[in-house]
Amino acid sequence: MRTVLVTGSAGFIGFHLSQLLLEEGFRVVGFDGMTDYYDVRIKQRRHQMLLQHPHFSCTEGMLEDFDTLHALALAEKPDVIVHLAAQAGVRYSLENPRAYLDANLIGTFNVMECARELGVDHLLMASTSSVYGANTQMPFGEDQKCDTPLTFYAATKKANEAMAHSYAHLWSLPTTMFRFFTVYGPWGRPDMALFKFTRGILEGTPIDIYNDGDMYRDFTYVSDLVRGIRLLIDAAPVRPETPEDIAQGDSLSPVAPFRVVNIGNGDKVRLMDFITAIEEECGREAVKNFMPMQQGDVPATWADASLLQTLTGYAPQTPFREGVRQFVTWYRDYYRA
Ligand SMILES: NC(=O)c1ccc[n+]([C@@H]2O[C@H](COP(=O)([O-])OP(=O)(O)OC[C@H]3O[C@@H](n4cnc5c(N)ncnc54)[C@H](O)[C@@H]3O)[C@@H](O)[C@H]2O)c1
Repeated sequence: MRTVLVTGSAGFIGFHLSQLLLEEGFRVVGFDGMTDYYDVRIKQRRHQMLLQHPHFSCTEGMLEDFDTLHALALAEKPDVIVHLAAQAGVRYSLENPRAYLDANLIGTFNVMECARELGVDHLLMASTSSVYGANTQMPFGEDQKCDTPLTFYAATKKANEAMAHSYAHLWSLPTTMFRFFTVYGPWGRPDMALFKFTRGILEGTPIDIYNDGDMYRDFTYVSDLVRGIRLLIDAAPVRPETPEDIAQGDSLSPVAPFRVVNIGNGDKVRLMDFITAIEEECGREAVKNFMPMQQGDVPATWADASLLQTLTGYAPQTPFREGVRQFVTWYRDYYRA
């Protein structure tokens, strides 16, 4: 039985990924600091659900606490590490950049050190579509230059990609960095738009809509996203021997077993259409508070998801109306709303 260490296992994506891996016969070792960036109770509920599975165990600890992380890694000897724990959120990085420095830079370094020492088969880590920053050429492809991060969050994730490349090169550590595009679905994050919009609509309170609603996002349904991660676990990059070993469209490094892969729906949806879908699902109209663009925000994201498909044969495709339906159903049940 293969063992996967999942950091951020009480988080939105870590929870869904752990569930899928358990279903597929992996042993999952979770690690999460249960930070209070958002309601800790939902994180506890996610862990409680995972703990019902005999092949799941978890440790509460901060990534910055190397000794705890290291002891866990040595004791459990995972074959694969999927590193999802991070200080997430674009907007909060304006308020509290140090949280990003600590979790995303020091924390990720600690994970990389454990992966190097254990010589894991594959290290996979979360980056974000935010690294595309001020790029305007759409859809965003992995081969684009990403040198214009607009928030400190994006800057830490871009730094993670560079840090990971160096370790992949130096220590022959097969490493995949995912660039996730706006992930949504049941058990989602209370700080994200879908959650706030649904709560506002059901409670009859105004919802803030930035840039007067003139925004586009590539919304990725969480079950699709974790399916992509699951398949990428088996697609560890191999250091190319010659430039010819790098296929057209592959982001494989010429000098390291390293690549970045977008995971997105490959589709851009108008924010107002997304809101209409939530209104229809809730059976109520939103009280809309139109606002200017927020500092650090980008007007549009859209993934070129073809590399994921080439590597795994898989393409996320849940239509956003279906994903919104699943979310609202979960929300109403969970909050008895
Ligand atoms: N959800 C999205 O739309 C999205 C988009 C792009 C990238 N990402 C990235 O995907 C990953 C998972 O995101 P998510 O949406 O599940 O977020 P999340 O906040 O729900 O999950 C992250 C988990 O990490 C834990 N954590 C945070 N800081 C920690 C620390 N210093 N030590 C230990 N644990 C810590 C938190 O308690 C949380 O449970 C993150 O790296 C995030 O940056 C998410």
